[in-house]
Amino acid sequence: MNIVLLGAPGAGKGTQAQRLVRDFGLAHISTGDLLRAAVKNGTELGVQAKAYMDAGDLVPDQLVIDLVKERLSEDDAREGFMLDGFPRNTVQAVTLDSELSALGRELDCALLVDVPFDVIIRRLSSRRTCRSCGHIGTASDETCPVCGGEMYQRDDDKPETIKNRLAVYEKSTSPLVEYYRGQGILKIVDGDRDPDEVYVDTKKALGL
Ligand code: AP5
Ligand code: MG
Repeated sequence: MNIVLLGAPGAGKGTQAQRLVRDFGLAHISTGDLLRAAVKNGTELGVQAKAYMDAGDLVPDQLVIDLVKERLSEDDAREGFMLDGFPRNTVQAVTLDSELSALGRELDCALLVDVPFDVIIRRLSSRRTCRSCGHIGTASDETCPVCGGEMYQRDDDKPETIKNRLAVYEKSTSPLVEYYRGQGILKIVDGDRDPDEVYVDTKKALGL
């Protein structure tokens, strides 16, 4: 099964993806996670991407497209994948479609996790992530509930950056909802509920 997870920053894409990985072992391809790893490791991509990410702007398309192409060619992704944070604009969506069709593959579903912006601002301000295992939690987690690791706040979860990320989402990414509706593969879940309730609907929408 090949899935795109759509939704504003903080909608809970990563939170739902972690549950799907746990239960179904789908390859989770988060461009945000891949880019943060590149920044942390000081690779050339990381050096190029950092300023865009810190400002909450999109990293240039070609850098992200190359990253996704490489990741999609890995063994685990051939069985099925879950793209999280990609595509983020029409250029990326059209490129993804043509790359997949060249490989004789296609998307089965684009799942929108739908959450109002005021809820999102609260969520992002209190998000904490585990430095060791990547578990996504909140400010109430003093240490990681999964592995006991240190929880940290992402550099782009600061008020000014959050505002810009939401503006970028509205302008560049939200048109993809209509793009995938037009392809007949859009599904929507109400993401403004307890994560486990959202997960029940997520599985239903994906037929899992
Ligand atoms: P990326 O890492 O993709 O960030 P994002 O899209 O802004 O999304 P987030 O990871 O912030 O939110 P999420 O939906 O995963 O929510 P989460 O589950 O963590 O991108 C970061 C940057 O990288 C971009 O700004 C850009 O610069 C660059 N980039 C990435 N991809 C790119 C691309 N394709 N092209 C160009 N540039 C790209 O949840 C958030 C919080 O809410 C957590 O604390 C969680 O515990 C909590 N929460 C989750 N669900 C619920 C719920 N149901 N109820 C209550 N709380 C919940
Ligand atoms: Mg995420």
